[in-house]
Amino acid sequence: MLWHGNRAPAVAGVGRLPVSLWHSTQESASRSTWSPGVGDVGAARPVRHAWPVAPDFPENVLLPRLAWLLGPEGAAAVALAARLQGDGTDLLPGLGRLRAEVGADNAGAAWELARLRARARPVFGADADVLFFTADTLEQAGRPRLAERRAARLLAGGADSVADLGCASGTDTVALARAGARVLAVDVDPVARELTAANAEALGVADDVWVVAGDAVELVAAARGGEVAGCGAAVLDPARRAGGRRQLDPDRWSPPWSTVALLLDRMPTCVVKVAPGLDHDRVPDGVEAEWVSVGGSIVEALLWGRAVSSTWRRATLVHDGEVHEMTADADPGPATAGPVRSWLHEPDPAVIRSGLVSLVAADLDATLVDPTIAYLTSDARAGTPWVSSYRVDEVLPFNLKKLKALLRERGVGRVVVKKRGSAIEPETLARRLRGDGARTATVVVTRVAGAPTALVCSAPSGGSPRAGEG
Ligand SMILES: C[S@@+](CC[C@H](N)C(=O)[O-])C[C@H]1O[C@@H](n2cnc3c(N)ncnc32)[C@H](O)[C@@H]1O
Repeated sequence: MLWHGNRAPAVAGVGRLPVSLWHSTQESASRSTWSPGVGDVGAARPVRHAWPVAPDFPENVLLPRLAWLLGPEGAAAVALAARLQGDGTDLLPGLGRLRAEVGADNAGAAWELARLRARARPVFGADADVLFFTADTLEQAGRPRLAERRAARLLAGGADSVADLGCASGTDTVALARAGARVLAVDVDPVARELTAANAEALGVADDVWVVAGDAVELVAAARGGEVAGCGAAVLDPARRAGGRRQLDPDRWSPPWSTVALLLDRMPTCVVKVAPGLDHDRVPDGVEAEWVSVGGSIVEALLWGRAVSSTWRRATLVHDGEVHEMTADADPGPATAGPVRSWLHEPDPAVIRSGLVSLVAADLDATLVDPTIAYLTSDARAGTPWVSSYRVDEVLPFNLKKLKALLRERGVGRVVVKKRGSAIEPETLARRLRGDGARTATVVVTRVAGAPTALVCSAPSGGSPRAGEG
């Protein structure tokens, strides 16, 4: 049995790399002898259980709770909590029932884990029922299906060992192990490490996962010869929130942008998850940037190491289990602008963020309504998943009174407002435009050739997916 943390003395030889790893006396000798990233230290064995927690573990109440949740009593309490929640039992009576069985502290932990598993289920599927999360790590977790896709692409060139630099609760670690890699899962956070160890165990990939305490900043600084911590590939998913707030400045991510840039420089086989709003100017030459959308929202943005990159930019859209991709080997430049025609097309955000709107415009024989706005217009309805299309019924300078009158005249009651390039607040405007009529209209408030304009459109048709999945 191997366990790990950030305080115990490193096993001999480990010190030369910025990870620390130690093991219990019951360490299994039957595991593979591969020891990723810790030199030739035989102590590095796949993680089996991370429990029991050492008495001198950092003062973190989560760890003892987690240790208990992993045992049979904890599992029974979580199952009971899940049943109570499934039956619609409210928090206080539910906790009261659990308290009577397992005491106050454990009752809270069981209730919380059952709640997090229920929240994870739509995205993690049946795996959610055996996984361990904290609210923070669940919020930071990527989508397992996309993690699988990333893992497959990362390993396609033959890499068989991967450093997951900032594993949190192990979504990427598990996907990489399932894809056949041996994974060195690194995190500065002891709770994250315990969760990854527990989740690797719960999903049956523990034999291929090593969990260690380490600082990705130092590991990446020590990367040489296309390897980091002894692994031929790396995944880096920096924490982009701090104190509950999104960190917009990449220099404030953890690890910061300097580590991202260094990894991309030193590790040809790597992938970095970045914020969807990342400035294109930050993307180094030769590095492919990809934006992925599911259900009409961007869910991840990726920078691929140079050995994995195969294009300049890629937009990826997941719809009904199908993956659609659009690529450009060089900047295609902006689309041209022209007058509003019979159809308005709203490009998928992955297309917009990746800078590929002009490719869609060329495909649809469409133009922009304004050089600065990502709405396209053409004479025909689009048959592509890359846009949502609306039939344009009226175009008028934006004027609330005239807009209201027009909608009344057309028998419109319910109004959906969309906007781009306007300061209006869509919900507020929709309320103000609401009438008694039976019809529904979509009102698009935007700029056309620089002028504030309202487009009264028929409900969306064709094309783009808007239902969540993935
Ligand atoms: C966004 S989360 C990773 C989420 C994970 N890929 C998933 O999908 O579940 C970032 C993780 O990086 C860890 N982290 C932040 N700075 C780090 C550093 N310098 N070294 C190692 N881990 C770090 C955080 O503790 C956190 O667990």
